[in-house]
Amino acid sequence: MKIKKLTINVIAALVIFSVSVFAAGCDTQPALKDVYAKDFLIGCAVNYDQTCEMVPCETAIITGQFNTITPENLLKWEKLYSDANGYNFDKADKFVEFGQKNKMFIVGHTLVWQHQTPMSIFQNADGNDTDRKTLLARMKEHIFTVVGRYKGKVNGWDVVNEALDADGNIRKTKWSEIIGDDYIEKAFEYAHEADPDAELYYNDFDMWKPSKYAGVIRLIRGLKTKGIRIDSVGMQGHWGFDYPFDEELEAAILVYSQTGVKVMVTELDISVLPNLFANTGADIAAMREMREGYNLYPDGLPDEIQQKQAKRYAELFSIFHRHADRISRITFWGVQDGNSWRNNWPVRGCTDYPLLFDRDCKPKPAFDAVVKVVKCDK
Ligand code: GLA
Repeated sequence: MKIKKLTINVIAALVIFSVSVFAAGCDTQPALKDVYAKDFLIGCAVNYDQTCEMVPCETAIITGQFNTITPENLLKWEKLYSDANGYNFDKADKFVEFGQKNKMFIVGHTLVWQHQTPMSIFQNADGNDTDRKTLLARMKEHIFTVVGRYKGKVNGWDVVNEALDADGNIRKTKWSEIIGDDYIEKAFEYAHEADPDAELYYNDFDMWKPSKYAGVIRLIRGLKTKGIRIDSVGMQGHWGFDYPFDEELEAAILVYSQTGVKVMVTELDISVLPNLFANTGADIAAMREMREGYNLYPDGLPDEIQQKQAKRYAELFSIFHRHADRISRITFWGVQDGNSWRNNWPVRGCTDYPLLFDRDCKPKPAFDAVVKVVKCDK
């Protein structure tokens, strides 16, 4: 009898011990979506293979860590439509199904952009530029087709991408040349008509630079004055160790939110490689020279650089956390370092390490640093 009681006690002790060890283990890798639950949505961009759950450890990161997804390419005009075959939604449908299955906030990226859009959209049959009326009709049809298909499923759309120049003026593109600057407001109007419940966003890079945000603010005010819906602005976050400047990033967040929109960081990845553009400006010869020594860490990231990146991510997330009431979403541009576009930009065939998970899907020091921002903020 005594022996039986002893055995039960030993088993109970073992159970308690292993539960507490397991809990401690879990505690060291919590989910970002839980850590930042009170702050904002947190997500990643996914590719087609990831929506098909081809690599289990990537699926585990996407579904375990994040509560929102954006398609890296699948909803871009050239991916949905070709002159030869018309629209094909197979892959985009898969993306939306994946998001719905996992109860995620689904972002549509992107409806109107000058890149990754078939050239034929801007042309007549003779290859010359088409006219305003025709292009507006094509834009409307595209927006109605795509937004209409995913009405009630895609929660928010990047309606227009990268429409402003560095000086804040409307960029000269086929859209603005053929339709005029009001193509932006037309796009927002059509998107709202196609799904009145969907959130609508303007998304661009360098959104933290004062000259650029002056233009974005004009754009937001212009839309709002005309009663056109815009919910948020997306600051693409393809950043590095020495940019953006923290004060300017913070100032931009404040200034945007004062116009009544929410702020999102939409394409976050922090390269560990040098900032090619800052150091060379437009000097092509200097850039070429720099390319030679650009691929600094082909065989692995030295610990010192891991730590530097972790510190950088912590600085950024401290700013995001501090302004959580103004920020609605942070989205990483990719899942793990191995499939980030930054391995091929601005220089092809490099080894970069811009995300929170390494090529084996293991959390990096940067991951722990991002978690600690909230956990140590007591
Ligand atoms: C821009 C676009 C994204 C993507 C990146 C590069 O930021 O908005 O869709 O194409 O460039 O991956």
